[in-house]
Amino acid sequence: MKIAINTGGGDAPGLNAAIRAATLAALRKGWEVVGIKNGYGSLYTDSPFIPLTPEKVRGITLQGGTILGTANRGNPFEMPYQKNDGSWDLEDRSDEAIKVFHDHGIDALIALGGDGSMKIAHKLIEKGLKIVGIPKTIDNDIWGCDITLGFDSAVTTATEAIDKLTTTAESHQRIMVVEVMGRYAGWIALHSGLSASADVILIPEVEYNFDSIVKKIEEREKRGRHYTIIVVAEGAIEKGEDRFIKGKVVGQAEQLGGADEHIAKKLSDMTGKESRSIVLGHLQRGGTPSSYDRLISLRFGAAAIRAIEENDMNKLIVMLDNKIQRIPISDVADKIKLVPLDGDTLQTARDIGINLGD
Ligand code: F6P
Repeated sequence: MKIAINTGGGDAPGLNAAIRAATLAALRKGWEVVGIKNGYGSLYTDSPFIPLTPEKVRGITLQGGTILGTANRGNPFEMPYQKNDGSWDLEDRSDEAIKVFHDHGIDALIALGGDGSMKIAHKLIEKGLKIVGIPKTIDNDIWGCDITLGFDSAVTTATEAIDKLTTTAESHQRIMVVEVMGRYAGWIALHSGLSASADVILIPEVEYNFDSIVKKIEEREKRGRHYTIIVVAEGAIEKGEDRFIKGKVVGQAEQLGGADEHIAKKLSDMTGKESRSIVLGHLQRGGTPSSYDRLISLRFGAAAIRAIEENDMNKLIVMLDNKIQRIPISDVADKIKLVPLDGDTLQTARDIGINLGD
């Protein structure tokens, strides 16, 4: 048995722990394990794989990032290429990718990725590859699972940052707007905002309006709270307006962000208070995984090998109802998991008086 491991899309704390567990569990069965370098893009190079050995994965559980490297532009079905006139376009090179797997005698692939990677995995499965997926993204937006690898660490990082911003905001009596990642879902904003006692949390699932936020700031002023902490998800939307998009590169998903500055300026104009904004950005993806992320990543990695051994292919290993389970990758492709409007966490925010901008 020979398996390959791929990490695709944005990195997340815990990837290395999952790689280590999958590698060690497979090697103990006498299988051969290789890692795909830098996402699927390396499949089109002379040296797509690196052998994964006990030495290669030693001591990596506590390391952030991915020892394999990753890429946001490595979709075999949409590979960017430059045309003769200098402009860029996309081409389907999936058949070449499949051939590389066959030529190297790969029996199964473990795909660690987010919603984009699961969509790719689903299409590769339709072309005959055998794949077991592991849900990875700090955004926690993969459909069909309670929690994804990397989310807990990102929330911890964001919470600590908001804690620090709170003391300076209070000293200067400022409005502090903190933009966090999460793409079209508000999981990071909601969980870190709640944990760090933010006053306002703006998530894509609940459109915001400035009158509501200003009312909250004025109420706080009356109570002698002369500072306000606002956590905004990068994908949050003002009622009646478009989402903030920073840019789009061919072959990559659109880059979100920019709401922080707009909100800070507008609130300053409306309230006369000083405001500052900050984007936490890729800090949320970096650093040592939390113990929770290490543990679920190790469990996901080992569970993927059990699924392959049982020939239960084309499944995503998930944490569902506090148990490791397997669900078809086809169920997950093309869907994302948003924060439920009737969920307990959102309701908790409302119950304790956090403004959601609506
Ligand atoms: O999906 C993870 C994520 O960090 C998102 O929260 C964010 O929108 C995106 O990736 C940023 O990607 P990049 O690394 O391409 O800037």
